[in-house]
Amino acid sequence: MFKLCINPKSHKGHINPELQGHFAEHLGRGIYEGLYVKEDSGIENINGMRKDVVDALKELKVPVLRWPGGCFADEYHWKDGIGPKESRKKMINTHWGGVVEDNSFGTHEFMELCDQVSCKKYVNGNLGSGTVQEMSEWVEYMTFEGVSPMADLREKNGHKNPWKVDYFGVGNENWGCGGNMPPEFYGNLYRRYQTYIRDYKQGEHINKIACGANVDDYNWTEGVMKTCFDSPAWLHGFMDGISLHYYTHPGGWENKGSATDFTEEEWYRTLGKTLFMETLISKHQAIMDKYDKEHKVGIIVDEWGTWYDCEPGTNPGFLYQQNTIRDALVAGINLNIFNKHCDRVKMANIAQMINVLQAVILTDGEKMIKTPTYHVFNMYKYHQDAELLESFIETKEIGVTEEYQVPNLTESVSLGTDGKIHATVTNLSCTEDYEVKVMVADSEVKEIAGQIVGGEMHLHNTFEEPENVVVKEFKDYNNLGNGEILIKIPASSVIHLAMTL
Ligand code: AHR
Repeated sequence: MFKLCINPKSHKGHINPELQGHFAEHLGRGIYEGLYVKEDSGIENINGMRKDVVDALKELKVPVLRWPGGCFADEYHWKDGIGPKESRKKMINTHWGGVVEDNSFGTHEFMELCDQVSCKKYVNGNLGSGTVQEMSEWVEYMTFEGVSPMADLREKNGHKNPWKVDYFGVGNENWGCGGNMPPEFYGNLYRRYQTYIRDYKQGEHINKIACGANVDDYNWTEGVMKTCFDSPAWLHGFMDGISLHYYTHPGGWENKGSATDFTEEEWYRTLGKTLFMETLISKHQAIMDKYDKEHKVGIIVDEWGTWYDCEPGTNPGFLYQQNTIRDALVAGINLNIFNKHCDRVKMANIAQMINVLQAVILTDGEKMIKTPTYHVFNMYKYHQDAELLESFIETKEIGVTEEYQVPNLTESVSLGTDGKIHATVTNLSCTEDYEVKVMVADSEVKEIAGQIVGGEMHLHNTFEEPENVVVKEFKDYNNLGNGEILIKIPASSVIHLAMTL
């Protein structure tokens, strides 16, 4: 028996809804086919956006969407994606599959999509191959209300009113695909480019995100923070967040491994590698603390998720992969980590929303399926905008090799906006169920509702069998009174308990 102790009186921080954000790049069938099918498609759509997909995303309460990349962002020239569609420039998407990008999904379409989904907008600018003028004009085009060349152009293209841009990324992976820069060089460019990302509307601040590190490149964080913060005090406040990218590839970059065909050893290796996120956040945060003593700069984990070998027979540049119960665990573990670090982690974006990497939705023509990852997000949505509560779970180490021993359980607990206590717990064992005594200090739990996503570790949804994995009611609990509840969590599962005191 393990114990999960919850102190409902000890609030540890606010959980930004953005911790459950998404990322959609011009990559494979993510935007085209997945989200956007064009107005004249036989697939039901509103202004070109797939209705089934938008409805599914609304159910998740997607808080924010990052676009247009990724590596694509530093090759993207936004003016190619505005104006009459028939005259938009075509280009080759050199990063992703060498396919023709016809720019039919551009700024107006992105804004329309976000409005349909009711989510915030995170636009990633081009610092790698774009100019300061191009970036500054994009911001003016999107957000300036009044008379100006870009505001006039927007009106000419059919949108008189400006949009609200919530987040703006100043380049992407500029240590690699975004220009192969050293950190100090990028830091200086960041100082310059960000100057022209103006807040045109009073009270509508655009949060500026600097390009952060690849995984454990602490030297990058050090170099960028030092370059940006060794400056006059009035320059402080010019960075709202710095990104962090970390993917889980079980077999490393060369041999990532199959999404659906894996051994127990690979199961634990995948989960063990996922848990490294905790170390990464703590270590990058420690470096940031040296320069940003007031903790004004958030960690923005704007790319995370599993990255396997793509599905056999698909374009390797499209990064299309299936999604099993193993991915459900990866999602549950990461989302618990982000909650626990909500004092510093202000946004996280799963890579990627649809048909790419650890997608929440897969499509095939007019068919659409929700993945196990989707269902985990659906259970975790109760943490959005909640207050993190102090909690602790007893664990033991499990695994089949010395190298990848993992704790059997992870958790996070919050006080939701509905006044209920929401606990999400992951069982990392693929063979063992565990009894856990939930202990809510000095309280009486009046009502309990449970949900579960779980099953045999390879279980996944297909277009033929779309409901192999769904959220089910979790009933294996016994309210013992005095704030104590006995639960039994099945092997390889993620559960959500909603408790009313
Ligand atoms: O998500 C796929 C790619 O991974 C992104 O384009 C890039 O930023 C990262 O390397």
